Parts: sequence; C-alpha cells; structure tokens
Amino acid sequence: MRILVTGATGQIGSELVPALREVYGRDNVVASSRRRHGSLGDPFVELDVLRRDELERVVRDYKIEAIVHLAAVLSAKGEQDPALAWDVNTNGTINVLEVARANKVEMVVIPSSIAVYGPETPDNPGDIAVMRPKTIYGISKVVTELLGEYYYSRYGLDVRGPRLPGVISWKTPPGGGTTDYAVEAFYEAVKRREYTFWVRPDTRLPMIYMPDTIRAFLLLMKADSSSLTVRFYNVQGMSFTARELADTIRKFIPEFKADFKPDPLRQRIADSWPKSIDDSRARRDWGWKPEWDLESMARDMIENLRRVLVGSG
Ligand code: SER
Repeated sequence: MRILVTGATGQIGSELVPALREVYGRDNVVASSRRRHGSLGDPFVELDVLRRDELERVVRDYKIEAIVHLAAVLSAKGEQDPALAWDVNTNGTINVLEVARANKVEMVVIPSSIAVYGPETPDNPGDIAVMRPKTIYGISKVVTELLGEYYYSRYGLDVRGPRLPGVISWKTPPGGGTTDYAVEAFYEAVKRREYTFWVRPDTRLPMIYMPDTIRAFLLLMKADSSSLTVRFYNVQGMSFTARELADTIRKFIPEFKADFKPDPLRQRIADSWPKSIDDSRARRDWGWKPEWDLESMARDMIENLRRVLVGSG
C-alpha cells in the first residue's frame, strides 16, 4: 500500500512515519508537511493541505492508495486563532476526502480527539455519545468525524481513525494542545527538576503513550473493514490527575518540585473534557489493548529524556 502522511513532522507523524515505513516499506510511505524540518528521510514532499491542486498532484504522482491525515491545529492554539483552526482542520480534511474520492484512494485515516466531547457528555463516554464541544478544535473534529462517516456511506471511501486522548512522547514535542502539560512536565523535570502545571492538581484527563498510539494506528489500519462497527474509535492508555503525574515523576526524580498555576483558557478546556473514555469497542472490534500505564510510561519517558537532553542514562 502506498501511503501519504500529512502533518508528518508533528508529534505523531515523526514517529508514525518510521513505523509505517517499517511495515509497508520505506518508498511506499511519502511524508509531507508544509515545511520540511526534523529528521524524516525521503520520500518527502512539501505540501499544504489547503492547496487541493497540490495535494491531488502528489496523490497522482506517487500513486497514493491511502492517506493518513495528521495535519491539524490543536485545542489551545486553535483558541488563539479560531478562523485559522477552522480553515486548516475542516478545509484540509475536505480536501483530503475529495482528492481521495476522486483518485480512488482506498483508505483515509484521520485521528479524532477527546476534544469532540464537551461538558454535557456523560462520564466515560463510548464512541457514540453526546458531542457538544466548546473549542473550535473540538468542533472541527466533530465535523471531521461526520464528514468521514458521510464519505464512507455516500461514496464507499474507507475512512477510519482512532479518537485520541492526550498523547505523551519524548521524540518530538507536541504543539498547541491542552494536554501538553503531561509532556512538558517530563522535559522540565529532567532539565530543571521543577515544573509549573497550567491546570489544577485534581485535573484528570485520559492519556496515551506514543508506542500505544502507534500500535493503535497500525492495528486499526490493518483491521478488516467488515469488523468495524463505527469509523472512529476511542483508544485510551491511562487516566491520571496532574498531581498523580507529579507524584509518579517524583518516584524517579525525588527532587522534582511541582507547582500548579491554572491558566484560565486551558483549565476551562480541560474541565470540558471527559476524565476517561470507554474504548471497549476498539478492544472488541480490532483487538486494541494498551501496554503502557502511568508508571511504566514515566520510567521510559525519563530514561529517554535523560539520554537525549542530558546525555546520561
Ligand atoms: N492533545 C490534544 C489537545 O490537547 C487533544 O486532542 O489539543
């Protein structure tokens, strides 16, 4: 399968592209983003998903059979410029879907987000639950899900995706998310032994470690279409409060000092999201099961960040 990945230099893409190249072969995975940076090798093309003509040219030139569409503006950044977030997230998505449909692309994979949920969502929501998000990012992801379902039922285009919680990783920093404190805390703990969280200590959110995230993408992409009962699937690795995260970091870095200064915007976003999500349908339909919990993730994050940031094991 020849795959095009948009937003490939971001937090997820920079790890998903190498994993896809392992499975599908280097030359079969074309990485793309607006500007080339980071360590992804070729094949790589500079591509803005808002340019439908360029997207179409790449899909034709490389005989693309599947698109993994990662390019998006996340929740906190989206609130700084809602019009831009709407443009990139919804028009980027419709461009991908239209080009896919018109060029007989077989599969389109788009991650959704816990941001589709809102304060009216019941606790521990399943895949089909009340979605009345209060962020432009969440609104655009609801639209993405609905468009994906529409292109599937209207045109038979196989659109599918994991609905992700906060993604924690050490290779490429995330940008613009509300949940990014769970990544920054590790960087700062390793570099400075202190961190000021932008949420209250009792703020609990669902999270997932990158290796589980990558596995979720690969499993879902391999799943037989006949086994899928929805197009977007909750996946969760763990759920913890900011204080539990700080306490766990302290098990490995005893001097770690955590402060909590809630930032009103990001606290409001965090408070509007569910504390955990029900991923039992993904477990049933395509064998999803997370392998990393808070403690094993924290150990691995700290070991790796010590190696890359301060050069000692
Ligand atoms: N990590 C994302 C964010 O905070 C959630 O999808 O925006």
